[in-house]
Amino acid sequence: MTSVENQTVDPTAHDSGNKATEKFKANRVSSDTSKERANAIYTDLLAAIAEVAHKHEITYEEYAVLKQWMIDVGEYGEWPLWLDVFVEHEIEEINYNRHDYTGTKGSIEGPYYVENSPKLPWDGEMPMRDKDKACTPLIFEGQVTDLDGNGLGGAEIELWHADEDGFYSQFAPGIPEWNLRGTIVTDEEGRYKIKTLQPAPYQIPHDGPTGWFIESYGGHPWRPAHLHLRVSHPGYRTITTQLYFEGGDYVENDVATAVKPELVLHPEATGDGNHVHYPFVLDKEN
Ligand code: DHB
Ligand code: FE
Repeated sequence: MTSVENQTVDPTAHDSGNKATEKFKANRVSSDTSKERANAIYTDLLAAIAEVAHKHEITYEEYAVLKQWMIDVGEYGEWPLWLDVFVEHEIEEINYNRHDYTGTKGSIEGPYYVENSPKLPWDGEMPMRDKDKACTPLIFEGQVTDLDGNGLGGAEIELWHADEDGFYSQFAPGIPEWNLRGTIVTDEEGRYKIKTLQPAPYQIPHDGPTGWFIESYGGHPWRPAHLHLRVSHPGYRTITTQLYFEGGDYVENDVATAVKPELVLHPEATGDGNHVHYPFVLDKEN
């Protein structure tokens, strides 16, 4: 539950799911996949489905439940949620491994990125409500460099994360549009120092078909506390990634399988909140 002025709202998977679907649909996507490649992919995909169906001797009841569930996922607008939790990490890894990148590792984007968040100075503060300011502050600082350690001035660090209740602005009702979303522009040495709040572990929306799916195999819907980032500078590879907090719950068993050891921060608690440092290293564009 989150309280907005006098009104109390209770965001649901339906709200977040539908918003994520609407946002995704607004941007019609395409790919120049050839007929030959499509044929090879479909052939292998159907063979993989056939193998699983035979191996487990799928019953007609199970097949009917699958059909019903797929209809429900669409009607609840949960395909972006389900796919980003259960499939995106593989796609991210495949596309990362295809290149000889040695800079900061990427991770999944998830369904809640919004472009063009407000620009913030290198040492600014994220847009926050009073209730966010009452949470444990997080001071997040570091430098964006190239592979040789040269600072990249004017690099853009897009940062977005959930509030203490686990809700993202623009996807749950009643939150100011750009709350906990901002684009930090690094100083001439590539440095940044941003004040935000310490995010909490996060449950993916689980009151709809994604939740029923997780429940059906006895899983859990939790992701470790995380910051989402997209770091860019002209001439360099843009990285979409996430950062996690050492020792935090679910770092070892993220439902979305999106944690990499290189992306775990080492927080230091001080009188004015938690401090974390992270160096972003960008590969040249190729
Ligand atoms: C989902 C939500 C997230 O915040 C995230 O980082 C990854 C996936 C989801 O609900 O699909
Ligand atoms: Fe997230």
